[in-house]
Amino acid sequence: MDFLKLNDMDLEGKRVLVRVDYNVPIKNGMVEDDTRLKATIPTLNFLLEKKCKILLMSHLGRPQKELKKGKTWDEVKKDSTLKPVAEDLSDILGIGVGFVGDCVDIKIPEDKDIVLLENLRLHSEEEKNDDNFAKKLAANADIYVNDAFGASHRSHASVDAITKFIPSCAGFLVEKEIDELSSLLNPEKPFIAIVAGAKADKIGALKVLIDKADKILLAGVLANTFLKAKGVNIGSSRYDEATFDIAKRMIEMGKEKLIFPEDVVVADKFSKDADTKITKVGEIPKDWMVLDIGEETIDIYKRELKDAKTVLWAGPLGVFEMKKFSNGTKKVGEFLASLNAKVIVGGGDSIVAVNSFDLADKMSHVSTGGGASLEFIEKSGKLPALIALEKVFKK
Ligand code: 3PG
Repeated sequence: MDFLKLNDMDLEGKRVLVRVDYNVPIKNGMVEDDTRLKATIPTLNFLLEKKCKILLMSHLGRPQKELKKGKTWDEVKKDSTLKPVAEDLSDILGIGVGFVGDCVDIKIPEDKDIVLLENLRLHSEEEKNDDNFAKKLAANADIYVNDAFGASHRSHASVDAITKFIPSCAGFLVEKEIDELSSLLNPEKPFIAIVAGAKADKIGALKVLIDKADKILLAGVLANTFLKAKGVNIGSSRYDEATFDIAKRMIEMGKEKLIFPEDVVVADKFSKDADTKITKVGEIPKDWMVLDIGEETIDIYKRELKDAKTVLWAGPLGVFEMKKFSNGTKKVGEFLASLNAKVIVGGGDSIVAVNSFDLADKMSHVSTGGGASLEFIEKSGKLPALIALEKVFKK
């Protein structure tokens, strides 16, 4: 895609509004995984060297949904503030990062070179891609940089509409993600995809992967959904009913390509204290749930992966956050790290998984995109925020 990049812009001494994706896990006021922060450092350092004043903006969570669920404004504001992120970023950069309690109609502190604005999604106009809100955001600066690859699959004001009101370009992270993920659009073969995780939202990407990949190894909620659609008893395991019809059609289409777990770790409850056992798929006891793949499946998946030249790993193979159910994710992850192949990790929880097993450095690329990396494949790279940048470039 054609759009302006940082090196095309006259940035010296300018006020630059940088959209980042700092939608990171925060617990007790502390950032739990700062991969997304560190990934933006090349852009931030480049702008600091150009003596720019940097205004960072991001979303965090889905506060409008929380309000709809009945939480009060004060509760939502407290739970979705980006303040802890500013503190973490100060530590990473080694310079004080200021924090401003809103993102529009604001007074920017003079004494800081870099400032993080409050969560964009506290304004409902952000998700509506509202022009007036975008105009107000744009009024904060001279130049806009999109370095939020993880949010580029959204048609939201801070990544889409804003490009109409201010000179706009892509940051280094967005450039890097596009370069790396583009290799999945025409992958070197054999190309094996692992599609797993706690959500069934990867079905769109799966529809494309079924053409591109030689094999697709399934686990997690998507595997449960497909197995149930095939008539297998999955006990009380999580599955997604809305995906049923598509799953049935895809099982027909991808008979030879889709590989399912043969054995699984089941538990009597979703807890680290659960009773567990390994069982064959097809013999899952009623009221027990699948929380990991079994050893036989790990061996089958390793055999399928061993000659791969390209691998996409989207989603952990079990509930890796609980030690009892982490074996599948850990062993398959370690095997991927040992392969002589291009291994790209994408999808939300996968970053946390590779970090928790110290595998991130051993992968070819760990994408900062959750849904964005999968939609990149699904839409052949044409994500809404990238289209917006392209549109203003062609004008
Ligand atoms: C993500 O974590 O995938 C991105 O930050 C996008 O978040 P969203 O799904 O809430 O838009």
